[in-house]
Amino acid sequence: MAISFNETNKVFKLDAGASTYAFMIEPNGYVAHLYYGPEVASDAFAYLYRPMERAFSPAAPGTTAPESRDVILQEFGTNGVGDFHAPSIIVRQGNGHTVTDFKYRSHQIRKGKPALPGLPATFGSDDDVDTLELSLYDEASDVEILLRYSAFRKYNAIARSVQVVNHSAETVHLEKIASAALDFADGLLDLIHLPGAWARERSVERHPVNHSRTVLESVRGLSSHQQNPFFALATPETTERNGEIFGAALLYSGNFAAEIELDQFNQLRAQIGINERTFEWTLAPGESFTAPEVLLVYSRDGIGGMSRTFHDMFRNHLIRSYWKDLKRPILVNNWEATYFDFDAKKLLSIARDAADLGIEMLVLDDGWFGRRNDDRSSLGDWFVNEEKLDGGLGKLVKEVNQLGLKFGLWFEPEMISRESELFRAHPDWCLHVPGRGASEGRNQLVLDMSRPEVVDYLYETICKVLDSANIEYIKWDANRHLTEVGSAVMPADRQKEVSHRYVLGMYELHERLLKRYPKLLIEGCSGGGGRFDAGMLYYVPQIWTSDDTDAIERLKIQYGTSLVYPCSTMGAHISDCPNHQTGRINPFATRGYVALSGTFGYELDLNKMNDEERAEIRKQVAAYHKYNHLVAQGDLYRLTDPFNPGTVVVIWEHAAKDGSEALVTMVQPRNVPNGQLFRVRLCGLDPAGVYKEEKSGVCYTGEMLMNAGLNVPRYERDGAGELFHFVRI
Ligand code: GLA
Repeated sequence: MAISFNETNKVFKLDAGASTYAFMIEPNGYVAHLYYGPEVASDAFAYLYRPMERAFSPAAPGTTAPESRDVILQEFGTNGVGDFHAPSIIVRQGNGHTVTDFKYRSHQIRKGKPALPGLPATFGSDDDVDTLELSLYDEASDVEILLRYSAFRKYNAIARSVQVVNHSAETVHLEKIASAALDFADGLLDLIHLPGAWARERSVERHPVNHSRTVLESVRGLSSHQQNPFFALATPETTERNGEIFGAALLYSGNFAAEIELDQFNQLRAQIGINERTFEWTLAPGESFTAPEVLLVYSRDGIGGMSRTFHDMFRNHLIRSYWKDLKRPILVNNWEATYFDFDAKKLLSIARDAADLGIEMLVLDDGWFGRRNDDRSSLGDWFVNEEKLDGGLGKLVKEVNQLGLKFGLWFEPEMISRESELFRAHPDWCLHVPGRGASEGRNQLVLDMSRPEVVDYLYETICKVLDSANIEYIKWDANRHLTEVGSAVMPADRQKEVSHRYVLGMYELHERLLKRYPKLLIEGCSGGGGRFDAGMLYYVPQIWTSDDTDAIERLKIQYGTSLVYPCSTMGAHISDCPNHQTGRINPFATRGYVALSGTFGYELDLNKMNDEERAEIRKQVAAYHKYNHLVAQGDLYRLTDPFNPGTVVVIWEHAAKDGSEALVTMVQPRNVPNGQLFRVRLCGLDPAGVYKEEKSGVCYTGEMLMNAGLNVPRYERDGAGELFHFVRI
């Protein structure tokens, strides 16, 4: 067992890979956090417990002044008994009060890891993971919280989740519930997080924490482009390659908040969970609430080490899809080729070129349904527009299949246009607040996914489409954020449940579709990468990373995304030039090098390609088949940082886990005349191995490549790039 409890010193010790996490039951019954860091064999951590009298730190009833909650590091913050940090839980009781005082009641340690009802969760066999369930109890309210910790044996990863149970005879209201709280004794750390915007998702920001409470959040209904449900805390000296870092990724796709608070003693509390601003949950007697899971990762090998652990955990213990270890079909998507202006003839002519060039799937994007010829109508009317697609999807898909291509289709299940048959039939199915107008985004409203009949309607309608033709892939989009989040069917005192119920309804629709179509490949999307989170990866193995397909912009977007999410999950396509988002012109080959680091495909009009471009496509298709195993299953090393203004060439490496080969990609965003000359050291190779670089035929030892490095070539034009393939001989 990787989890132990010592009856004598009352210490719980969790060993996850090469990391250890420890806490203890205090003599007064509270649970004090002791340690999280590199592995330690002994469990004698109790000496770290530090009661200390402070004049302005009140002691909770039945405790002495030095044991004040103000100074003791805890596993879960209490409310109203002297812990002045942001609480981890707020329960409003029948008497209107919100004070709670949770103390140890019991615990259970078991092999394996239970699933979370209706929520995404990491999984593992009895040999992979052990779980501790710690019961804390507040006597006055008769409410229990179950803190679950699952320690993965092979990885420095601990999954945590929380369940709240109302044992009392009265209804209580949960106003806040964090999924995990993490207290640090030495809180002078750097906060790393991933803010962004539409078409500029997941920039990397890093700054020292200060004596305040920082909140990273989404209140947009979806996890959002603007902040990702992730944060990391690193020691100031930590770099990409070295040093300590703690990362936390929330497995949730709705409104979240991460709170990071450095206190007067330089102790720090970090927590993450559902955003309390848009949340409340009614718990009737006997009812319970399960909060989403958070995955904690510890690394001593810098930011890169943390990322590689997240990647392995997500690939092996989160993504369930049939496709997770399979090579994804190279696709061509018609969006940037045609936008809404297509018919069956045009699609088939793209498909014919695709087949000739070795592309494996045609994806029909927005505009195939209802009367949708622009973005003002028809969302919700998921039946084919026969004016555009004569003979329906059955005929089109058959013809596409006959060309040897698979077929994929775009949906935006959660949305509804005012101008639609669905809206005329069910005007109250959208999120709205009676007596107020409903804000529109991209001319559309949002369906109330908290209503079971809405989920049923979508399930049945989508199944009908999927059953009508051989559709092997869907792109599941969501092109606006949520406003006027009210449900026509929820009572007044439960309207604050709707944001979370929306997410549960969306997850349920995914779950039902996956059950019925286990081999269906689903790509998540929300105006590009606006719902790129670990929660979604439980349902979909890949997500469209950004609507910005400019290869140079993608260097940053894919770098930031890769801090947490594996390359096998990142939708990356080669698109037209001048680029539709930035107007820039980048070499065709470079667009390929960048897209090869994701799921790979095309988003342009193949009919317009000249001979040179067609030849390049054939090369890119061959490169995908040759290198994709390294990208999808290997280790990612980010060798230079595109966010650093001093970076002249952006370089990254995909190395085979066994060190047998590596693919190194170099892209120079801008040509800097007489720019700096430098070397780059590779990673993840076998020091004693001899590697041949395929293009040049030059041989190097692994030690040489990793210690002395390579001279980075000088490129003479903006956007130039190159691939280097090293194979151990
Ligand atoms: C979103 C997606 C695009 C495309 C359009 C269609 O913006 O991110 O890829 O599917 O919607 O309307």
